[in-house]
Amino acid sequence: MNGDREPGRPHVGSDRSPSAPGPGGQTPGAELLRRAKRDGRRIVACTAYDHWSAAVLNRAPVDFLLVGDSVAMVVYGHPSTRAATLEMLMGHLGAVRRGAPDQVVVADIPWLAMEGGVEAAVKAGRTLRGGGADAVKVEAVPGHLTVVRRLVEEGIPVMGHVGLLPQTVTAPEEYRVAGRGREAEEILESAAQLQAAGCFSLVLECVPSNLATEVTAALDIPVIGIGAGADTDGQILVLHDLAGLTPGGAPRFVRRFGDGAALLLRWIEAYAASVQEGRFPTETESYR
Ligand code: KIV
Repeated sequence: MNGDREPGRPHVGSDRSPSAPGPGGQTPGAELLRRAKRDGRRIVACTAYDHWSAAVLNRAPVDFLLVGDSVAMVVYGHPSTRAATLEMLMGHLGAVRRGAPDQVVVADIPWLAMEGGVEAAVKAGRTLRGGGADAVKVEAVPGHLTVVRRLVEEGIPVMGHVGLLPQTVTAPEEYRVAGRGREAEEILESAAQLQAAGCFSLVLECVPSNLATEVTAALDIPVIGIGAGADTDGQILVLHDLAGLTPGGAPRFVRRFGDGAALLLRWIEAYAASVQEGRFPTETESYR
């Protein structure tokens, strides 16, 4: 498998076969995330949308990859995740699954499927599972608890998503910190309901750190934070954000670990100069 993982850092996907459900229908991936929480090992995750980055991520020390509906914004340039369709996600899921056969892959049930009612959402969950997702993620939008229960009954592992819910955002100003004031109670309750409905883990997005600490302590299942402070059981970021590949500003919670866009531009400039100055291709890069 991945011989070049960080020494000494266990990887949740390392002793699993990607899509084989375990007892009770939960994948080994779900079980291993639970074990990470129990052992106090921080979970690391990021998004993946395509084959080449998945092939890189297949060798990376991450615990799971998310084929997120953020693909609609990051890759397709839509203003919101609501533009993601099941077909869109299935195409990206297939590319990621082929590129990262050793990783745990979670896929979002898109808003358009949730909007279509419980049957459409459950069908979308089944389709994503059939397309190679080890688990599906459901945002806490209307009807989600029934969808979660139904999928769990069918043996499909479900990750919940509370806090800021991008699928409910219809205007840029609605991207804001969730869970301040009275909303805190609602988020705590929603998280508890998702756990009771059978979710094996939860994404908690853009909430005050003290609320995230409370949610994480209150739940037995792993809580993966994004913009939720340092006390959750793990962190997830959009790959393009962490690699500095997204144009324009980023939310405060994003750390760019490098300037990927500048690097890429430098390589393209070097290629252009080599072509223009007759330094590419050389003899060795040509056929006789
Ligand atoms: O779609 C996505 O990228 C997500 C993350 C923000 C967790 O849901």
